[in-house]
Amino acid sequence: MLATPPIPRNVPSTVAFTVNGKRVCVSTSPVRRLSAVLREDLGITGTKVGCDAGDCGACTVLLDGDPVCACLVPAAQADEHEITTIEGLAQRAPLFDKLQQSFLQHGAAQCGACTPGMLIAATALLEKNEHPSEGEVMDALGGVLCRCTGYRKIISAVQATCSTYAHEDSPRAGCAVGTRLVRLDGQRKVDGSEIYGADEVPTDALAVRVIRSPHHRARFRFGDLGAFASQPGIHGVFTSKDVPGEDCYGVIPPFADQPVFAHEEARFRGEAVAMVVGEPAAIEAFDLSSFPVSWEALEPITRMEDALAPGAELLHASRQNNVLTGGRVIRGDVDRGMAEADVVVEDEYETGFVEHAYIEPEAGFARRVGNCIEIQACTQSPYLDRADIAKILGIAPEAVRIIPTAVGGGFGAKLDLSVQPFIALAAWHLKRPARLVYSRVESVTSTTKRHPAKMRLRAGASRDGRLVALDLTADFNTGAYSSWGPTVTARVPVHASGPYKVPHYRAVTRAIHTHLVPAGAFRGFGVPQTAIAQEQVYDELADRIGMDRLEFRILNALDDHSPTVTGQVMGEGVGIRACFEALRPRWSAARAEAVAFNKAAGGPLRRGVGVAGMWYGCGNTSHPNPSTVRVGLKPDGRIALHQGAVDIGQGSNTIVTQICADAMQVPIERFDLVSGDTAVTPDCGKTSASRQTFVTGKAAAMAGAKLRAAMLQLTDSSGGSEITLSNRELAVISSGRERVIDLTAQPLDEHGYVATAEATFDPPTSPLDENGQGNPYAVFGFGAHLAEVAVDTELGTVKVLRVTAAHDVGRAINPTLVEGQIEGGVAQGLGHALMEEFFPGKGENLHDYLIPSIGDVPPVESILIEDPSPVGPFGAKGVGEQAVIPTAPAILNAIHDATGVRVRRVPATPDRLRAAILAARESGGPRG
Ligand code: FES
Ligand code: FES
Repeated sequence: MLATPPIPRNVPSTVAFTVNGKRVCVSTSPVRRLSAVLREDLGITGTKVGCDAGDCGACTVLLDGDPVCACLVPAAQADEHEITTIEGLAQRAPLFDKLQQSFLQHGAAQCGACTPGMLIAATALLEKNEHPSEGEVMDALGGVLCRCTGYRKIISAVQATCSTYAHEDSPRAGCAVGTRLVRLDGQRKVDGSEIYGADEVPTDALAVRVIRSPHHRARFRFGDLGAFASQPGIHGVFTSKDVPGEDCYGVIPPFADQPVFAHEEARFRGEAVAMVVGEPAAIEAFDLSSFPVSWEALEPITRMEDALAPGAELLHASRQNNVLTGGRVIRGDVDRGMAEADVVVEDEYETGFVEHAYIEPEAGFARRVGNCIEIQACTQSPYLDRADIAKILGIAPEAVRIIPTAVGGGFGAKLDLSVQPFIALAAWHLKRPARLVYSRVESVTSTTKRHPAKMRLRAGASRDGRLVALDLTADFNTGAYSSWGPTVTARVPVHASGPYKVPHYRAVTRAIHTHLVPAGAFRGFGVPQTAIAQEQVYDELADRIGMDRLEFRILNALDDHSPTVTGQVMGEGVGIRACFEALRPRWSAARAEAVAFNKAAGGPLRRGVGVAGMWYGCGNTSHPNPSTVRVGLKPDGRIALHQGAVDIGQGSNTIVTQICADAMQVPIERFDLVSGDTAVTPDCGKTSASRQTFVTGKAAAMAGAKLRAAMLQLTDSSGGSEITLSNRELAVISSGRERVIDLTAQPLDEHGYVATAEATFDPPTSPLDENGQGNPYAVFGFGAHLAEVAVDTELGTVKVLRVTAAHDVGRAINPTLVEGQIEGGVAQGLGHALMEEFFPGKGENLHDYLIPSIGDVPPVESILIEDPSPVGPFGAKGVGEQAVIPTAPAILNAIHDATGVRVRRVPATPDRLRAAILAARESGGPRG
């Protein structure tokens, strides 16, 4: 990427340049960011903004043919130059056509927020070099971050652009499941026309600026808000007094505790206390320091041990000892099991906050329509948003319409409200549309994180390698408000055994309040943290017994008939043993290669190999979480699929349609997708907990089957008939007889369709008893990862060389999308293991908070195991959350294999690993 040229001395106030071949003239501040000029002034929104600081590369455009970050280019610098955005790449056909097609075919775009930047950088590369090497692609795209894909499919797509590669043809009727269908919403992502939260704005929209606490804990007092609000361009200042309904929201209603604006005391740095609403120019010029608020910083509680200490101040009066809630699962007699075990290992592990770091910061706008409110924003959970906004405004849920935009990555944090209450209140009070786009700093400061965890784990095994007992206590720092803390404490005890037979088991968890940013949902709901402890302790047990670490896991792996730690017996569909067994060939080869390398190596480099297993229940833990899908036959012979599952990049738009199409035995081209909008789609629940393929997919299969039956009835046909839909006609061939009806001649039902079918699916689970016994999930996904690393024992740095990932997904509805989830999960797990930790108050940006870049992610071999679930649609299980869980422990086990030391405080940053190596050397311990 080009270094930014110096700013000209005589800057014009009118800037004229060519954008996408068209001459434009803009009157603007010469130092306004080019990205803002393009998006806000010219309405060219294909160029995305992820950080406004040169860190993410989402805003990459071509300046005279070379890629630059548009957020770092002052408008004046574009004067008399040529700018190309993703919208203009169409003029570079056929190369760009081929690149787009390659991205689509390879599944290189997931949420798509990074895709414009990636495509621009790739185009610049391919115009000079049609057949780049992997290293050349990595160099050229190195400035653009992607949080979803793990980069490997992007690299493949760029390399294949000008080569011949396999294209998947559109599947025949009844054959969509199992094919590598190009994602149905993919074209919009590769041509820049996808609409994200910040991409649409009504012309008369006001802008919102939120005033937030600069302290972890502070009392505050407002000055003359009336005088402030009377300034030109300012339309209102709002505080907690202006919340007409209940000023308390939260994703789990019994635990709801978060106000829209703090009342007198802010409980975390970044908490909102007020907002200013005004004309966009006034808000853009608004100096935060001029806002009349005074702060009195108070001593915060930031550590869980301080929050639990006797006499500690309570963050919430009703929550004793600052404990939000807890969870437990107890089976057998863990003390007896430990006493009977031949080998017992006990360790403590700790993990920190992790930032979701999706490329799209939260954004949206709201407008009041009579006594209703409409909100168009990025979200993972439209119906949860609807319920909370109704509560906040004091209106009926039916008076709230949530229109989800495309979501530029979510991973859990966009399950909680962010911009929605602010824009809703502003639009409600001022009766004008109101828009809010979080800055990166605001996003990092105020939205939820992965829970930091402190875990003590004891595990025992018999001399022959059988697990006998496991005892876990885990505390999770849930921050100032509840968010998904209760879900984490409930889910972790069910999963902390890992996918193994453990006869004596006790797992006890707590979520503890502190004056820090709320921790919430992040891919895995606490399970990735405990997997880090459990899988390392299992390695230690295997070592103490003298058993191969992979064989130890295979020996103890759950099977169809063994009870889990909650006493659940699945009967079929338990594919964990197959996952481990699929790793055997690479395990043997990689270990031999590592041993040979270490023998030959004279320097500080050591290689190691690690393995870890995972299981993860799909959907809510013992709680109902139904999805309802509606399908309608239109008079034009097309099928409308109303499914409310929000596609956050994982591919539910495509996968749910594949399932429905095969249930109906109708070609996928006949489908029109109606997604997400609470006014037009039934509730498909939230996009989380790996539930959309399983739960919404199952509802789509059921609704599709019902509509097929209705279509057969329309033509008086029976079961095994062949259905053909054309522009106005439904033709059915049954027992050699063809029956055709003119759809335009049929009466329409209340939905405006010739026939409509609706189905609801709620996974069959049972409540857990006081010891956590029961059937918490109808379906589990299973997986095992093998990581190969090289460690520089002098510097403490780790290079992950390769990951082999075997996942039992039941049925791979779309193998390309499944692999995309696995590769993206591996990248996030790598970040968790080696580099990612958020410290509230420090590094609230993408410069200091590091996520894996294209050079950090190794080749990933995905092995798909299909042990069908008897419940899932076509046997499918979820994979989104599952994919991230085993990577970090596999890497940490590989580091131990290479060096002989364990880093018990994750991430294993170079300083921590080096300190552990030095400490081991000083104590005469392990090599390295
Ligand atoms: S928005 Fe420009 S680099 Fe992130
Ligand atoms: S696809 Fe790259 S950030 Fe989502």
